[in-house]
This record gives sequence, structure tokens and C-alpha cells, in this order.
Amino acid sequence: MSRFRSVVAGVGSYLPKKVLSNDDLAKMVDTSDEWIRQRTGIKRRHIAAKGENTSDLATKAANRALKAAGLEAGDMDLLVLATATPDLTFPATATIVQANIGMVRGFAFDINAVCSGFLYAMATADSFIARGQARNALVIGAETFSRILDWEDRTTCVLFGDGAGAVVLSGEPGAPGMGERGIVHSYLRSDGRFADLLYVDGGPSKTQTVGHLRMSGNQVFRHAITNISASIAKVLDDTGLTVTDVDWFVPHQANQRILEGVSRRLGIPDGRVVTTVAEQGNTSAASIPLALDTAIQDGRIKKGDLVLTEALGGGFTWGAALIRM
Ligand code: UT7
Repeated sequence: MSRFRSVVAGVGSYLPKKVLSNDDLAKMVDTSDEWIRQRTGIKRRHIAAKGENTSDLATKAANRALKAAGLEAGDMDLLVLATATPDLTFPATATIVQANIGMVRGFAFDINAVCSGFLYAMATADSFIARGQARNALVIGAETFSRILDWEDRTTCVLFGDGAGAVVLSGEPGAPGMGERGIVHSYLRSDGRFADLLYVDGGPSKTQTVGHLRMSGNQVFRHAITNISASIAKVLDDTGLTVTDVDWFVPHQANQRILEGVSRRLGIPDGRVVTTVAEQGNTSAASIPLALDTAIQDGRIKKGDLVLTEALGGGFTWGAALIRM
């Protein structure tokens, strides 16, 4: 049994200034605003400026999360950063952010679980906190997917955007229960047999290049709905909670049709689903904390609300989590 539960003390996010609309994309590849909206729900996405790196987006989101928590970098014991688009092969982008925010203690490392990265990072930080090995942790999802897109491939380049989101977790005594604030439960899965359906065709060891994202979209789509629904059923079942206990569904933002498909299967009403995909596209590991921050900022998500979150990404990796805010 845990000795500590991980309470969300603050959330922050950052989107790069440049916005790329569907009409802009229609000038670059054979696509249209109508196709992109109908098939994905995406209207526009943010793109990092030249020289603006994943660590820069992450640093801004982290500083905002620290401010929201009323804590300082020096209070952090741990920094876990989820990304599939690190600044460099090494050092970890997490240590670059650690230096940027002025955190000169504790430890920092990256996690690569692509679009499920934030769930993996949060569960990892939760484990350190639960065992008392960290009191305060920064969990960040940050991506510059614009750098790994093939801008001539209309089947992928219209889907993704850049951004970062961060959450400060603070340990509070006591195991996670149903009523207290904190991460109630999380469930992670992966299955490497599906690597060929969503991957980047380059890397330091295999090609000595950065490579481009490749995806068999409609196959990923089918797996996403099935696996995400199953992992949500699992976290609810494990905790004895039901969909009616959930105040807000904050899913990974890959495609409006996936969000609707999963919500319909589970009987989650539209009014309880937080969606940012129209304005941000798919920001991979950043999408969950970005959506969380959006709904906190606009007053929807409040302290004590039960939030359900999920993701599926390259690997495949997938999972779900329940958080009492
Ligand atoms: O976050 C990580 C997980 N990723 C996801 O969850 C993404 C999952 N997949 C999807 O969101 C969808 O499969 C896509 C949005 C990628 C594609 O939608 P779809 O309804 O599965 O379309 P499709 O791939 O079956 O393609 C349908 C048609 C094809 O043309 P033909 O072969 O029917 O003539 C494509 O070539 O649409 C064509 N197409 C496009 N047309 C205009 C594909 N991309 C585009 C485009 N503009 N951008």
C-alpha cells in the first residue's frame, strides 16, 4: 500500500505563437479544410519557431505549473519529461529543462512512450512519490512534432502540432482513496508487435538520421478505440468507480472521431468531454496536460473533480488514469 498519494498542485501549458491553418496546409499538399475537419475535427495547430526547441516549450509550461502550484524549482525532487521529439539524442531534454528552470537538486529523466508519454510519466512520478522517494515532482509532456513530419505526406502532416503541458505533483500522506485528492489509479500497456503501424523511420542507431513519422492511420484508429475503451474499463473496474462518477473526460487529442467513438462506447456525455484537438491538433505527449490546463483555466475542472484520462500512441503504448483534482 502507498504511503503517499500524488496530488495535482498546479498545471501549466504553453503553445508556440505561430498558427498553421488547414487552408495554409492546402497550399502545401493536396488536401482541404473540409477533409481535415470532417475526418479529424482539426482546424489549426501551433508550430514552434525556428530555434524554439522542445525544451523551450517545456520550460515555459513548467514555470507556469510551478506558479500555479505556488512552488519553486528548488522545491522539486524529480522532473519527468515525456517526449518523442527531444532536443538532442542526449542529454535528456528533462535535464535541459531542469537547468533552465533553475532546479539544482533532485533528478530528471525523459520517457518516450510517444502519445501515451504523459500517462507513463505521471505513473512513474506517482510511484516515486508513493514510496516517499520524491515529495514534489514536475511531470511534463512536450513535443515539436513539426520537426519529424514529412511535409509532403498529406496523410500525416495535417494531424500534428507542437506544444507543452506540465503538472506539479505533491505527495500527501495516505494511500489514494476515493474521496481524497490525488492520482487514484493508472493502468499502462504496450504491445511492440504493432510498431510498424506508427513509427519514425530514422534514429541514431539505425539510420543516423532523425527520420519522419509514418502511420497507417485507419489501422491505428481501430486499435485506438478498442484499446482505449478497454483500459478505461480496467481503471474503473479496479477502483469500483463507474462512468457516472467521472466529472471530466480529458482524453489524448488525436482525432475528434476517436474521442466521440470512445465516449459513445462508454456512455460519456459530450458535455463532460474536454476537447482541444480543433485548435491544437495532436500534440502527442503534450495533449493531455494541455487539455487539462485549458479546462482548469476556463473554470470547468475544479478541485475535487474526478478526471478520467487516456491515450494510445506509437509502440503501441496505451493506458488510462483517474485523478481526483
Ligand atoms: O496519437 C497517436 C495515434 N494516432 C491516431 O490515433 C490517428 C488515428 N487515425 C486517424 O485519425 C485517421 O485514420 C486519419 C485521420 C489519419 C485518416 O482518416 P481515415 O478516415 O482513416 O482515412 P483513410 O486513411 O482511410 O483515407 C481515406 C482517403 C484516402 O483516399 P482513397 O484511398 O480513399 O482515395 C486517403 O488517401 O483519404 C485520403 N486522404 C486525404 N485526403 C485529403 C488521406 N489524408 C488526406 C488528406 N487530405 N490530408
